Amino acid sequence: MSNIAHDYIEDYIRQLIPEKPLNIKGLEKYASENNVPIIRPEVAQFLTVLIKACGVKRILEVGTAIGYSSIIMAQAAGEGCKIITIEKSDEMCEKALDNIREFGYEEKIEVVKGDAMDVLNNIQGSFDMVFLDAAKGHYDHFLPMCLEHLKINGILVSDNALFRGMVANNNLLVRRKITIVKRMRKYLKHISSMDELETSLLPLGDGVALSCKIKEVEHDAKD
Ligand SMILES: C[S@@+](CC[C@H](N)C(=O)[O-])C[C@H]1O[C@@H](n2cnc3c(N)ncnc32)[C@H](O)[C@@H]1O
Repeated sequence: MSNIAHDYIEDYIRQLIPEKPLNIKGLEKYASENNVPIIRPEVAQFLTVLIKACGVKRILEVGTAIGYSSIIMAQAAGEGCKIITIEKSDEMCEKALDNIREFGYEEKIEVVKGDAMDVLNNIQGSFDMVFLDAAKGHYDHFLPMCLEHLKINGILVSDNALFRGMVANNNLLVRRKITIVKRMRKYLKHISSMDELETSLLPLGDGVALSCKIKEVEHDAKD
């Protein structure tokens, strides 16, 4: 129960998603058995459609975990794609690198170890898509650096934007999540009101904010 869509809606959507190959199912099984949070099936399908429809080739991801979403996105983006994915946990980096090797995606996916706050400052190049899926309370801190790396008409996807429904409904809010929820609300307000972005918040999975960068962010002369 996600507290976002009714169970019957989620079940209905999920049974329409084509069955995944065994090696992808293996990653899902590992994540489930080891309590590693990965994107939900409907979000994986959404990213796949988005990447194919928009011809996305270069992707910057924050939050690799075991490499599941990177691998899903690499499969969708196909030949000539490049995904740079940032992960701060040594253990997760090792596991992601093993999985990426197993899929033969070493050329397509580069895992950068470190805290996104540091790594994002040193990333080179521009991207067609940025996928934010780490440190839910820090999306607003990552935002300026992510937008700097995003091309015009590029897409920013922020996962867990409704955070188990708590972002939209105080009755669902649990005390230890108050900071994350407050920060997520601030972030959503920010990306929804920026002149440089067009944003749509979708009640999909744990909530997905989909934004398109429509112009460059202007910096103050003093910056
Ligand atoms: C939800 S998981 C990512 C799941 C992955 N995107 C997937 O769907 O397969 C979030 C990951 O972000 C990492 N993380 C959290 N804060 C981070 C930070 N500040 N910089 C880099 N990685 C971070 C965590 O260690 C965790 O592995």
